[in-house]
Amino acid sequence: MTQRRSESGFPVKAVYGPADLSEDSADRIGEPGSYPYTRGVYPTMYTQRPWTMRQYAGFGTAAESNARYHQLLAAGTMGLSVAFDLPTQMGYDSDDPVANGEVGKVGVAIDSIDDMRRLFHEIPLDKVSTSMTINAPASVLLLLYQLVAEEQGVSGDQLSGTIQNDVLKEYIARGTYIFPPKPSLRLVADTFAYCRKEIPRWNTISISGYHMAEAGATPAQEVAFTLANGVEYVRAALAAGLAVDDFAPRLSFFFVARTTLLEEVAKFRAARRIWARIMREEFGARDPKSWMLRFHTQTAGVQLTAQQPEVNLVRVAVQGLGAVLGGTQSLHTNSYDEAIALPTEKAARLALRTQQVLAYETDLTATVDPFAGSYVVEAMTDEIATAVDELMGRVFEHGSGVDAIEAGFQKREIEASAYRIAQEIDSAERVVVGVNRFVLDQEEPYQPLRVDPAIEAEQTARLAALRADRDGDAVERALAGLRDAASGTGNVLYPLKEALRLRATVGETCGALRDVWGRYQPTERF
Ligand code: 3HC
Repeated sequence: MTQRRSESGFPVKAVYGPADLSEDSADRIGEPGSYPYTRGVYPTMYTQRPWTMRQYAGFGTAAESNARYHQLLAAGTMGLSVAFDLPTQMGYDSDDPVANGEVGKVGVAIDSIDDMRRLFHEIPLDKVSTSMTINAPASVLLLLYQLVAEEQGVSGDQLSGTIQNDVLKEYIARGTYIFPPKPSLRLVADTFAYCRKEIPRWNTISISGYHMAEAGATPAQEVAFTLANGVEYVRAALAAGLAVDDFAPRLSFFFVARTTLLEEVAKFRAARRIWARIMREEFGARDPKSWMLRFHTQTAGVQLTAQQPEVNLVRVAVQGLGAVLGGTQSLHTNSYDEAIALPTEKAARLALRTQQVLAYETDLTATVDPFAGSYVVEAMTDEIATAVDELMGRVFEHGSGVDAIEAGFQKREIEASAYRIAQEIDSAERVVVGVNRFVLDQEEPYQPLRVDPAIEAEQTARLAALRADRDGDAVERALAGLRDAASGTGNVLYPLKEALRLRATVGETCGALRDVWGRYQPTERF
């Protein structure tokens, strides 16, 4: 019989036993809520409170997305997660020629405070925690959120949520970067400092392996490249003069959950252990909160199939189970129709129901870290941890993590894994039910949700009205102030907030920063 290999490429034995545990395994495993956090960041984990069910959603106009958020909250979701359209993610207004055809497509179109107000209409921002998947312009959207909260009478210290704000992985895998790495890292450090003072419970970054995994990274690569980026952000903040324990407790992470459940559980446990060591031993953090790797998980979109889409419900349940067994803090379960189009309302509800079954019908929340001590999971945890250390070493051989990115190292490694997976699927060595085995002759018809193309014209008209209605001179002065701050060393978030308050748009504020910092030009070496 041929020996199976894990997704990270290690041989998987048919049987594991006590000899597979390392000698110091008791120390490596530890206790839940204690260093090195292999067993989870909280001593009580889900026995006290289940993970946050946080479904990523947003499309079309702010009003349409607001209606979807109300539906999700009514259905029992515990936190919001905003998807922005591509122009917003790239820092362009809906009426910009480059936005043509993209407005409201992959997420909601937000141009100004007026849209943000509509997006959170009748949602009390002191009661929900909100994640925003926004990177290069993360500070802009965060400040718009804070401005809307202030209008609701909610102060910064009452707000909780997360901005993705992880621009380094944009250069590697996702592509929505604006500025070159240096000013991008400065903006990240400014945001850490601003939040520490003004929005102290905010998770200032969600350092993400998810997109690298979707691009083809193995579990070991996903963790190694994510933690290497994490190290880069810590270094940038320290270089900007921040003290490690002033910002590290609010760093958060984001990983994928694949259908290979055992290895995924091991991956999450290894990631926590390594990050704790790096923060305590390498950066000298003293606050235990700085050692804790808290993370959000999304089930693997790339493993969903357009063929027999209902089978995706099963895949997602298995993937979600892996995330929970791995100790995630927050979870998005994909909708079964995501490989075809934007999720319909019914599919979005079923995705949430999947988490609710895991949380309220199974016994998963009755006890903490049920896989601890499992011969195979502990052995895999050690194996992944060793592979991650080795790969991180290879990243930093380039000088810094940014140097490795600029040399195309991570991208090349991920592409090689993606190629291998594609070959395995083509040859049916890797079984994908409904795609290369158990195929139907005739697929059933399916009615996907489509975004109304009229949205672009509506957003453009709203922008014209906004520009006619606001104090244009005051906006110009505020944008000039923003440019000055960007070319100096002061924290840019304060002048940025003032410009946004005066109803400067996302495109105008990002444009002002582009004027000073320029745009990133990728160096294609492959
Ligand atoms: N004991 C004690 N306290 C506990 C506890 C326990 N057992 N369980 C929870 N708590 C407390 C926590 O300490 C926390 O309190 P605090 O706010 O005072 O710190 C509170 O309860 C909330 O718990 P968590 O912090 O564990 O959970 P959250 O949901 O608030 O935060 C997170 C989780 C991972 C830290 C955060 O960063 C987060 O929510 N991330 C979500 C990111 C996200 O949704 N991203 C979407 C990406 S989609 C994307 O990229 C699109 C694409 O391209 C695919």
